Amino acid sequence: MEFQIEVNNKHITVREGETLLAALRGHGIRIPTLCHMNRFSPTGACRLCAVEVEGKRDLVTSCSFPVEEGMKVKTNSRRVMQARKSLVELLLSNHPDDCLYCQRNGNCELQWLAEMMNVKERKYFGKKNTHYPDYSSTSVARDPAKCVLCSRCVRICEEVQLVTAIDFISRGNQTMVNSAFNKGLNISSCIHCGQCIQVCPTAALTDISHQEKVYAALDKKDVRVMFMISPSVAGSVAEAMGLKVKDQPMDIIAGALKRCGADKVFHLGVASDINISEEAGNLIAHIQNKENSLPLLSSCCPAWVRYVEEFRPEWITSLSKTKSPQQILSTLIKTQFAAEADIPMEQIFNVAVMPCVGKKYEASREENTHKGVSETDAVLTVRELLQLLRSSGIDIRNTEGEALDDPYVQSSAAAWKLGYSGGKAEAVARETYRMLGGKMDTFKFNTPKNIYGRKETKVTIGDHQIGFAWVSSISDAEEYMQQLLLDGRKDIHYVEVMACLNGCVGGGGQPVSRGFEQVIARKKLCAELEKNCAFQYPQDNPATAAFFKDNRFKPDQEITRNWIKTDFKERTVLK
Ligand code: SF4
Ligand code: SF4
Ligand code: FES
Repeated sequence: MEFQIEVNNKHITVREGETLLAALRGHGIRIPTLCHMNRFSPTGACRLCAVEVEGKRDLVTSCSFPVEEGMKVKTNSRRVMQARKSLVELLLSNHPDDCLYCQRNGNCELQWLAEMMNVKERKYFGKKNTHYPDYSSTSVARDPAKCVLCSRCVRICEEVQLVTAIDFISRGNQTMVNSAFNKGLNISSCIHCGQCIQVCPTAALTDISHQEKVYAALDKKDVRVMFMISPSVAGSVAEAMGLKVKDQPMDIIAGALKRCGADKVFHLGVASDINISEEAGNLIAHIQNKENSLPLLSSCCPAWVRYVEEFRPEWITSLSKTKSPQQILSTLIKTQFAAEADIPMEQIFNVAVMPCVGKKYEASREENTHKGVSETDAVLTVRELLQLLRSSGIDIRNTEGEALDDPYVQSSAAAWKLGYSGGKAEAVARETYRMLGGKMDTFKFNTPKNIYGRKETKVTIGDHQIGFAWVSSISDAEEYMQQLLLDGRKDIHYVEVMACLNGCVGGGGQPVSRGFEQVIARKKLCAELEKNCAFQYPQDNPATAAFFKDNRFKPDQEITRNWIKTDFKERTVLK
């Protein structure tokens, strides 16, 4: 039902049941918020969304107040504006004055609020709380001094990822967000998804930077720096820098990195193609092994893998043992490429450019070292890549593209699908279909059905019907798996899980998004870019075909296992 309310002396039409904040924003009225998160229940923690409602003695928080027929609201009275300004002044009174040195300088909600409220001088003086940063994790850095206690990280970690690695501790003006027992995040239950970084309004949560390591490697004469670009990074850079599909963003990134001193820039999609082919082979074997009670679970998302190892060790045997694309290509460069180019493995420095902070953690896993040498030496997020290019004085909009380097030069369209939720399942389905003798021109990936709110579909190949499902976020994955087990279903054979909402396009290493629209724009660009590929299927990629034809990679040989297989184990952490 719709009715009218009065806002700032004008009538607007609103819907029964919506919050005042949603109604006001729906009519283009700007209301500041800090603790509010779309699709989450309101907490009323920050009070910045306060408005005046006629008949109410106190200001009300519009994010938690429902619209009522005939109500009269003032969003810009002196009282409202002064209250909001005081709240920002109070937050600033306990905040470091180091904007010029801050990672979020220019992209900080507290800065925007101070500017919006016309805060021009320090109002409250006094001793600030003493907090110490935590750089113990391999992926996420915490600086509690910059925390404004909005609770967004706590809620995403608990409600979306079911992890609760961080929570509020202490009371009153000592309240802070911390990990369990005030120990480092490295020994907490954190699964390295980085979603807390994406929602934090300030630089209280950022990534553990690998930029300095990369600069140092670029400066060394006897070190060969190999960059590996994930296809989804091209979509994100294009979205962030306003590039078009026809600009060939992958080539522009290659050209830009060459100007920074990269020796080689490789297409990580080659390894995605290998991963998809191998996983399709795993799936066929998994289906043939009648003892498996669970579907094959994808394992290219390191946060999902870590969740299973910590919280669901009973599912470890169902995780695909195929290495992630990052680790496959890193290994190939340090072995196959190094041998063919006659470069000692120790002189190679591999840099993966990824949409994900969890990939920094993945690179550090002991399984991902080969005879004591790390397969991946550094991982740059999309944020770090853009920063590196800015610092190097490179204007990506005016950079000439260059082809990526042989032999990992291009990928199939399937590899581009790994960037968004559902893409991996579709790519594996196509490859499985091909391997089982299906004719690709008759392949049909049926419109997915929403089952328990998640997506699943079936592919018919001869007499077989293979079920595929995909979920993003750990809470959806957990709920889906529980339902499958409860219902005793055997018709789903493969489940793709991405810990980040919407998959890697919403990854923890992406530019901090100002809204859902940005994530969707990235996804659209990835889907557009995949149409440019010269071939559709992984095995049509000459580099992938050559890999599987190479005599060294027969199934069950140790070297094959080392190069594209990995292992998982139960992990005990502080919970
Ligand atoms: S990275 Fe993910 S699991 Fe770790 S604290 Fe942040 S939201 Fe929680
Ligand atoms: S760390 Fe960031 S997201 Fe978490 S409560 Fe503090 S300011 Fe909010
Ligand atoms: S946004 Fe409403 S109380 Fe924080």
